Amino acid sequence: MNRKNILTGDNSKSLLIPEMNETYHSIHGAKNESEHIFIQNGLMPQLANAEVRILEMGFGTGLNALLTLAQTLDKSTPIIYDTFEKYPIYLETIHEIDHPGQTNLESFRQKFELLHTIPWNESKQISANFIFTKYACDFLEAKLKTDYYTIIYYDAFAPQFQPDLWDYPQMQKLYDSLVTGGTLVTYCAQGQFRRNLKQAGFTVAKVAGPKGKREITLATK
Ligand SMILES: C[S@@+](CC[C@H](N)C(=O)[O-])C[C@H]1O[C@@H](n2cnc3c(N)ncnc32)[C@H](O)[C@@H]1O
Repeated sequence: MNRKNILTGDNSKSLLIPEMNETYHSIHGAKNESEHIFIQNGLMPQLANAEVRILEMGFGTGLNALLTLAQTLDKSTPIIYDTFEKYPIYLETIHEIDHPGQTNLESFRQKFELLHTIPWNESKQISANFIFTKYACDFLEAKLKTDYYTIIYYDAFAPQFQPDLWDYPQMQKLYDSLVTGGTLVTYCAQGQFRRNLKQAGFTVAKVAGPKGKREITLATK
């Protein structure tokens, strides 16, 4: 897959797939977007749980994982972070976009490197409370644990490029994998996607989006 580095509106970097004209993050600010959607609306409301189990669809550049690690390092809550990726990115590209340097998280450089270099499909302890596993697979074929996850960071490419990933059968699979009270959070606010979530049993809320995006979706089991 051909990818081009881009600088986004908050000076953090991201990647563009020129053939699709699709970016990994918002051009208005990659860090700002991830922080607003996944950390503030996904992670923070769930941190009071005794343990927080996160499923991320689309590890990509590892920005969501980095921000989650940074946000939870000084907390005692155990964090289980399972992420899925079908098209891994070369380490050289990861170094070029330099998330730790460009997002003011220089002190996490070593841990961020670990996220990218540990073997796929093996669980590793990254910090005292953070257990991380990245699965190299097509998420459409992934078998998920039932009633297990606390939060789903749903970060696939947009529905026009990957309709199957936003379709009802996937939403049912995700619903089944969450605990009651668990949430799915995503940048996508498409109407058909929201109807698919409702059909699967989710309670769906519209939440104000980050800069450049009016609304995002927060769905609760
Ligand atoms: C919008 S980007 C995610 C950005 C990522 N969360 C980050 O912080 O950089 C979408 C990601 O989903 C991955 N992806 C696309 N289709 C997939 C599939 N069927 N199974 C697993 N991963 C997939 C892409 O390779 C890409 O890394």
